[in-house]
Amino acid sequence: MNNNFNKNKIIVALDYTDKKHALMLSEQLDPSYCRLKIGKQLFTKYGPSIVDDLQEMNFEIFLDLKFHDIPATVYKACLEAYKLGIWMLNIHLLGGKEMVIAAKEARDTVNKKSKIIGVTLLTNHNKESMHYLGMDNREEIVNVLSVMANDAKIDGIVCSPGDIISINKSKNNLEFITPGIRLSHDSDDHSKVYTPSIALELGSTYLVIGRPITEAEDPMSIVEKIRLMI
Ligand code: C5P
Repeated sequence: MNNNFNKNKIIVALDYTDKKHALMLSEQLDPSYCRLKIGKQLFTKYGPSIVDDLQEMNFEIFLDLKFHDIPATVYKACLEAYKLGIWMLNIHLLGGKEMVIAAKEARDTVNKKSKIIGVTLLTNHNKESMHYLGMDNREEIVNVLSVMANDAKIDGIVCSPGDIISINKSKNNLEFITPGIRLSHDSDDHSKVYTPSIALELGSTYLVIGRPITEAEDPMSIVEKIRLMI
């Protein structure tokens, strides 16, 4: 089996509070099989040193800080993030086109080979929570945000695998980064979940997978299982 094909698909979300646990899991994983996502939890506690530690273990890092602020602030924050040598960074598309372009400019300034992607709507939102915000048409909002992401020429968007269908793929060059992946029907806090193979069939480029791997007794066996499934 071609390792690169699989590496290109799996991003393990290291959602731990303790660096010790993050490093223990990473030691069991193979950087040629998957990339790692560092989120707000670990980064807030340990800062850039956690990125350095994992990059030294040869992992490519998706820094999931979901920036959302005025364009000038996002630009400066993105500059600092890309200087860490990360593979991918994200921002919230709801921050608006100017903010998205500012983030891309920061990426272009530091390293055009790193990726910049935008979050559409979080996968925990369901009909009620969207209605509460006065945003009843999830499909339309995801579509509008994806058009904006494409116009801003960023690399991809974060969305639910189920959202990809409402996006006119022929009109964009976006990659689709999809959380809400489960091997079984446990949904945790996602409003809907998808298996790795269905997510790929729906058009996912990368699968973001946290708890099914981080909470497993043998995490590498789950990565291997997913590799075989896809
Ligand atoms: O444990 P689980 O597989 O549900 O982890 C999902 C990961 O994806 C979490 O780290 C969460 O922060 C992230 N996520 C995201 N964008 C969303 C929904 C979840 O980055 N829209």
